Amino acid sequence: MLYSDKVMDHFSNPRNVGELEHYNACGEVGNLTCGDIMRMYMLIEDDIIKDVSFKTFGCGAAVATSSMATELVKGKSIKEALELTNKAVMEALDGLPPIKVHCSMLAEEAVKATLADYYRRQGIDPEPIVGKIESANVVAHEDLNANK
Ligand code: FES
Repeated sequence: MLYSDKVMDHFSNPRNVGELEHYNACGEVGNLTCGDIMRMYMLIEDDIIKDVSFKTFGCGAAVATSSMATELVKGKSIKEALELTNKAVMEALDGLPPIKVHCSMLAEEAVKATLADYYRRQGIDPEPIVGKIESANVVAHEDLNANK
């Protein structure tokens, strides 16, 4: 079978879907080639990701990797979340076909883009901490309910 049971499980029953009612960070990334978009929301307190959710407009592997990425960073510190790699997401899903590796990249970058947004909202330049995220889309903050 092309996809592992875990991929199929996270695709069929994605965890942490939707927009959080209260969050203070939101990041969005997109892949120009396939056109898929991933948006992530986080509630961060005392450097800990207390809650996290996502909305993905994309392929099944993008849904599964978003779901797994949120599970892997929930309850973790910012530092730990920044260490999350697409490889770790793929391993947690028992692998992805080579043609779908870029979907896991999007999940890693969605986490980083959301943490970059968290720093930006505090007037801190995120680039030295988070690095440059090529796939990041600009999310208009007035569209978001963050800091409620
Ligand atoms: Fe582009 Fe999966 S095909 S994210």
